[in-house]
Amino acid sequence: MNFTEHTAAESSDPSRDAAISSLLDACFDGTHGGRTWFKQIPHERLLAWSGSNLMGHVGMEFRVVRVGEVIVPILGIVDLCVAPAAWRQGIGAALLRGAEERARGQSFALAMADDPRLYERAGYSLLNDVNVTFLAIDELRCHSVISRDLSEIFMVKQLTCDVWPDGPIDLLGHLF
Ligand SMILES: CC(C)(COP(=O)(O)OP(=O)(O)OC[C@H]1O[C@@H](n2cnc3c(N)ncnc32)[C@H](O)[C@@H]1OP(=O)(O)O)[C@@H](O)C(=O)NCCC(=O)NCCS
Repeated sequence: MNFTEHTAAESSDPSRDAAISSLLDACFDGTHGGRTWFKQIPHERLLAWSGSNLMGHVGMEFRVVRVGEVIVPILGIVDLCVAPAAWRQGIGAALLRGAEERARGQSFALAMADDPRLYERAGYSLLNDVNVTFLAIDELRCHSVISRDLSEIFMVKQLTCDVWPDGPIDLLGHLF
């Protein structure tokens, strides 16, 4: 498996973009609508290739969020996915590790996971009683700022020696 990394500032490559959008559509039931991103273009991506076939993708968003009264720099894990034919070979875990290695001083990695298994194995934990405020974007339109209990999907991994502060979370932007 060969890994390549790309920043949002790079000029686009039509064949790479086509491979990304088709992988995202295959892995997320078409919810990306043929785009290479869901709500926003990630700042960076890590791609896994087998020859010229794109087998895996992870996007990275670098952001600060508010937790109680503390501003916390975080790495947001976005659109982690692997082509179904290559599942259970460790590619997903390798992409997640690769994304974390590219954090630059961010204290925590955050992921929103319907299924926690891969993340728990990689050292992520679900937070209890998490009230999260975020910008709701639907169909590529901002429609409101909402607050929700996201305890069932909100996963955090410590990347430095900082401890996750107490308090409600304001993502200062959209949900990953
Ligand atoms: C989740 C996913 C990226 C895992 O890729 P992978 O290369 O198979 O991952 P690995 O081989 O490193 O690890 C496999 C383990 O991931 C876990 N896993 C499987 N599906 C998962 C899912 N949808 N979410 C989280 N973890 C998952 C399982 O524990 C699995 O091991 P097991 O079957 O022996 O229990 C891949 O199944 C996928 O692309 N799913 C569709 C998109 C998706 O749900 N992405 C997660 C967004 S939060």
